[in-house]
Amino acid sequence: MSKDSTAKLLNLIEKQRNKKKKEKFSGTFLDYLQIVQKDSTAAKSAHKRLYESILSHGVEKFDESDARYSRFKSGTNVKKYEYFSNEFFGMERVVSKVMNFLKSAAAKGEESRQVLLLMGPVGAGKSALVEHIKTALESETFYHLKDDPQRGDPLHLVPRSLRKDFEKILGIEIEGDISPVARYRLLEDLDGKYENYPVIESTFSQRARRGIAVVPPMDANSQDTSVLIGTEDISKLDLYPEDDPRILSLNGAFNVGNRGIVEFVEIFKNEIEFLHIILTATQEKRIPSPGKNAMIHFDGVILSHCNEAEWNRFKSEHTNEAILDRILKIEVPYVLELDQEIKIYEKMINRSDFKNIHIAPHTLKIASMFAIMSRMKESQKCDILTKLKIYNGDDVIEKGRVKKIDINDLKEEAYREGMSGISTRFIMKSIDSAISDSDTNYITPMSIMDSLITQVKEQIISEDDKTRYLEIIQKIIRDEYLSILETEIAKAFITAYEEQAQTLFDSYLDNAECYTTNEKFEDRVTKEERDPDEQFMRSIEEQIGITGSSRDGFRSDVTAYMFSKMRRGDVIKYTSYGPLKEAIESYLISSVKDIARIVTKSKTRDDEQRKKHSEMVETLIESYGYTEDSAQAILTYASNNLWRDS
Ligand SMILES: Nc1ncnc2c1ncn2[C@@H]1O[C@H](COP(=O)(O)OP(=O)(O)OP(=O)(O)O)[C@@H](O)[C@H]1O
Ligand SMILES: [Mg+2]
Repeated sequence: MSKDSTAKLLNLIEKQRNKKKKEKFSGTFLDYLQIVQKDSTAAKSAHKRLYESILSHGVEKFDESDARYSRFKSGTNVKKYEYFSNEFFGMERVVSKVMNFLKSAAAKGEESRQVLLLMGPVGAGKSALVEHIKTALESETFYHLKDDPQRGDPLHLVPRSLRKDFEKILGIEIEGDISPVARYRLLEDLDGKYENYPVIESTFSQRARRGIAVVPPMDANSQDTSVLIGTEDISKLDLYPEDDPRILSLNGAFNVGNRGIVEFVEIFKNEIEFLHIILTATQEKRIPSPGKNAMIHFDGVILSHCNEAEWNRFKSEHTNEAILDRILKIEVPYVLELDQEIKIYEKMINRSDFKNIHIAPHTLKIASMFAIMSRMKESQKCDILTKLKIYNGDDVIEKGRVKKIDINDLKEEAYREGMSGISTRFIMKSIDSAISDSDTNYITPMSIMDSLITQVKEQIISEDDKTRYLEIIQKIIRDEYLSILETEIAKAFITAYEEQAQTLFDSYLDNAECYTTNEKFEDRVTKEERDPDEQFMRSIEEQIGITGSSRDGFRSDVTAYMFSKMRRGDVIKYTSYGPLKEAIESYLISSVKDIARIVTKSKTRDDEQRKKHSEMVETLIESYGYTEDSAQAILTYASNNLWRDS
């Protein structure tokens, strides 16, 4: 290591050390009371602290102009919580439900006496979500009794007889009592003078087991409630009587997680007896202490997760009713919006060692399409590709009109959609293996399709699923990709594609408007007055199958649509009106289709063709995000698979 970088590292170490030194409170209960008097939020409940911590990052209502808003309109009140927005995609509904739970719990509603359970298929993000929620606490601090293993709330020192008066002065409700350990100390060391009890401020830390505890699933043999509530220290049993608090080791999850969070990983993998402690922890906010001591107050958020099979098994046992009644279940389905699913893989790749691999355009889209289609139920109303597009908020054009299928009808028809199918992990594994299988440093839609096929063949056990998945990849997705590819290559042959499209669009609008209003119009270039150009309009319209009597309707629809947009002051781009965009693109593309085919396919090119070809490759690289290699790969694929009939 160079001297220079050693100095830099040293500098970092010092900086961090100084930062840590930021004074935390340490004083007596009396000093603490002054803090609480000034700021009663110092004594907030675990649920409230967690809720406010997450909320402090910001929250937004869905902007009504956000295309995704309309898809959320029915049902829950969905908001965007900043704290989650760069980590989780397409999960706003789940996050909003979790936040509603915390909000009611923070207000001491029944939710504050419930276990939050996230239930959903593998790889839907349950663990990641809980992990992120726990992290929110790690930036917070809390006040507690010093050297109390339970890190109890200092206000619990106030004797019952004085609570009413204290509550009045402080404006806080005091609920709960100090732990047996703290009580022993109060009586023995402090002579009962609770105003002198030392109070300190601490940060939450999962690693240091301060205020955040995790209970992993345990096999039946090693399940021991000591994991939850601590033990008696056997070596001290000789020294002290059996109800003496000095023999207690309060290091269980409910001791550690008091004031913060207790997480149960895969909760129903545990034996039910093991979970009985949850009953009192939620309803009475008290947990048993090991041995013969009194129950101990507990104030914490209990989070848990499980998959659907475990949930169903647990639910079917009627002896589990008592626990069931204390659980608030939130379903965590897979994402069904294509654009959101793509973002998941972008995030994961960016955090992996693969981030320097070139990923050719549409690669992650192809993988995500497969994931979502595998999760979707078939519809009576449309094919699965159309459904995917509608779920993603894309316009589906049919006979010159945006296809009108109500997304809510589709959702209603598909009961429990998103609770099964291909997981994010399956897709990531396929991406990983596509990368490691290739000797190159890039992957393409073709290599991901191959990898998905291999994974499906190897990993999917159910024959029915296997057949269905292979059909999705080999038929639906492959065809869709070829059509994307054909368009992309053709586009790359057109110089200044966007400008050309915009010019055509403007010109069509001028013509259609005059036609509809029965006026002449002024040519944008020559300033001459002339009649609308019927032939030009038709050549655009026929691209999307508008002929004969339907022309008038289409032209006046377009004109009306544009007027209404203009009135609202919106910018009018050629992409504004779905059907017209489709017509214009297809007009432009059909004008180069032949040349695209000939130039791409032919092995020997004349000078003119060679020039066109290299310009096209240039555009693929400069404007569409390919590299030299990946452009070559998709062009080869195109010449072998596209334009079959030629
Ligand atoms: N909607 C999403 N947004 C962002 N990341 C996601 C999303 N869904 C899944 N992931 C990512 O997928 C990975 C797997 O998720 P996670 O381990 O949380 O799943 P899980 O629901 O706990 O599954 P299991 O039941 O198998 O434990 C994580 O890295 C997570 O970040
Ligand atoms: Mg998990």
